[in-house]
Amino acid sequence: MPPIHKISIIGAGNVGFHLGKRFYKKGFEIVQVFSRNEKKAKSLAKKINAEAITDFSTLNPEADLFVIAVSDNAISIVAESMVANGIEHQLVVHTSGATPSTILKPYFNHYGVFYPLQTFRINSKPDFKSLPLCVDAGVKSNLKRLKKLAKKICSNVHYINDRERAILHVAAVFANNFSNHLYQIAEDILEQENLSLNLLLPLIKETTHKIEYNSPKKVQTGPAIRGDEITIKRHLEFLEKHPHYRSLYLAFSKSINSKFGNLK
Ligand SMILES: NC(=O)c1ccc[n+]([C@@H]2O[C@H](COP(=O)([O-])OP(=O)(O)OC[C@H]3O[C@@H](n4cnc5c(N)ncnc54)[C@H](OP(=O)(O)O)[C@@H]3O)[C@@H](O)[C@H]2O)c1
Repeated sequence: MPPIHKISIIGAGNVGFHLGKRFYKKGFEIVQVFSRNEKKAKSLAKKINAEAITDFSTLNPEADLFVIAVSDNAISIVAESMVANGIEHQLVVHTSGATPSTILKPYFNHYGVFYPLQTFRINSKPDFKSLPLCVDAGVKSNLKRLKKLAKKICSNVHYINDRERAILHVAAVFANNFSNHLYQIAEDILEQENLSLNLLLPLIKETTHKIEYNSPKKVQTGPAIRGDEITIKRHLEFLEKHPHYRSLYLAFSKSINSKFGNLK
């Protein structure tokens, strides 16, 4: 199979935007950018010197690789439209952590996954040198091609199969999505009392920094691990005006206690 030079991006959301820009920066030709939204397709296409399209009937079959970067539940809908418009023998990947590579198998002979394990927003600045780029493919020859491509845009490339990627994604939801939601709760509680989340930033940074060198289990602090029941009672009294946060507080305290067993 030939190496990959020409790439088309399907989906101009967070991931399509950053992958498209990264491929372009590293010298790949971006053939087309597809989005249902013309403004989004044009805006990204302009940045990466590609053609913007909004209709699958205008897909150019000459790309070596099609990157489907759409919402998880739209991957098969998009794949079906691509096949209906003559894309069948080209290499096609999706970028989802939670979706098996085999979702593409009914549609394409050459399929795989190109999953950047990082949190992306259009206005974020992902560090492609350090983020883990997880690749998988239906056959070895395509895995080789994807690894080679991935190494051109990233220094942290891994072969991760469907099962491993699904597990990584569950863990990532805990580590990133839930922890961010907890920051949001902290911000909400503070703002209601005219206090700023900025006061917690050094604490948040230190927590993240510590687990670079230690297991999180080794660096847990707080009233639940200390068995400080009087403090927990005070917190629960304060949280009576936030019943939802109170139930989360109890669930987390119980979870910490199930690991360390210091509460009665
Ligand atoms: N964001 C992250 O942090 C992250 C990280 C790693 C992997 N991923 C994965 O990358 C993929 C894209 O995520 P994202 O964050 O880039 O999503 P996003 O910003 O919400 O963008 C999703 C894109 O999907 C398109 N789309 C939705 N339904 C469609 C349909 N029926 N037909 C055609 N296009 C459709 C949307 O098009 P319109 O603009 O026209 O609505 C939009 O461009 C997902 O599989 C996600 O799991 C995300």
